[in-house]
Amino acid sequence: MPRTEFIATGFHVPERVVTNDDLATMMDTSDEWISQRSGIKTRHWVSDGETGATLAREAAHQALARAGMKPADLDCIVYCTCTPDHFEPGNGVFLERELGLRDVPALDVRNQCSGFVYGLSVADAWIRAGQYRRVLLVGAEVHSRGLDRTTRGRDTTVLFGDGAGVAILGPTDDPRRGVLSTHLYADGRHAEKLWVDAPGLAHDPYISEELIRAGKHRAVMDGREVFKFASVLMPQSVATALKANGLSPADLKLLVPHQANLRIMEMVQKTIGLRDDQIYMNIQKYGNTTAASIPIALHEALCEGRLGRGDLLVLTAFGSGFTWASAAIRW
Ligand code: UT7
Repeated sequence: MPRTEFIATGFHVPERVVTNDDLATMMDTSDEWISQRSGIKTRHWVSDGETGATLAREAAHQALARAGMKPADLDCIVYCTCTPDHFEPGNGVFLERELGLRDVPALDVRNQCSGFVYGLSVADAWIRAGQYRRVLLVGAEVHSRGLDRTTRGRDTTVLFGDGAGVAILGPTDDPRRGVLSTHLYADGRHAEKLWVDAPGLAHDPYISEELIRAGKHRAVMDGREVFKFASVLMPQSVATALKANGLSPADLKLLVPHQANLRIMEMVQKTIGLRDDQIYMNIQKYGNTTAASIPIALHEALCEGRLGRGDLLVLTAFGSGFTWASAAIRW
């Protein structure tokens, strides 16, 4: 059975940069609070005309160019997002249309911050089974239009950013390389600790002025609980990924964690016992872009030469659900 390799990556963020000082003009917050609690300095927000699908299209074209491929060479799209452009259908078909494709399957993955690793697990299974040979795996989010830009929403609004990251995946016959394993987890007991209640068909009607007035269409988060679980479960998922492959932290060239919070990533680093050069962090520039954060970080790490052929890469994610996941990859 072949393994799954990363053929090329790409990313795209909107041009508009929003600084912590910009946010302080909209709500009662400060650069000091945001920097100290999250490490974030800037994030990107979409402007008129930009959507999740257009961000993903730009990232996909970049990856295709790096791979020397055309959109027609793709035979499947796996699109991970928790901020779809529309309630229905999912964003996969909108991206397919943006890329000028027809007849290519488009799967939508709704696993929030863990979306990219969940999507990777599905794409990897399909590729190893021989069902698809060229899979475009996408993590793309537009948070900014859903954020409450008043003081009421400050605990979440300052954290999230917009962006897209993609990877083109395909089979390799080199037994030493490719995706070694993926591990996925979920615990729905914590579903309401980070969620957007409405619109939702649990409500009748599923959207109403009352729901909007109550702010039910905004992301609501129990930040401390998210922090607590993320700091424990992300290192645990990395340990599982290493153990499953008979490896140890010393073997790790690079850990690319979901960029949720600089302090969470520092806890992950400390718990596993990694040197600074073994973990990649770019949350300072982009904020938390949920499903897009890992592919954006991976692309930047590659551009900076932090990962070479044969190196061990581990991905780990944690987010709303709670869901969490890890992947071990021999580059
Ligand atoms: O992908 C997963 C996504 N989510 C996360 O990763 C979030 C994980 N959690 C966190 O990162 C942290 O819990 C936060 C950064 C969200 C918050 O940090 P914290 O140290 O847990 O602060 P807190 O929620 O306990 O709030 C402390 C104070 C409160 O004021 P009082 O009650 O002490 O007077 C908040 O009202 O900070 C206040 N506060 C703010 N102040 C200035 C909350 N948000 C802000 C803000 N600016 N943006």
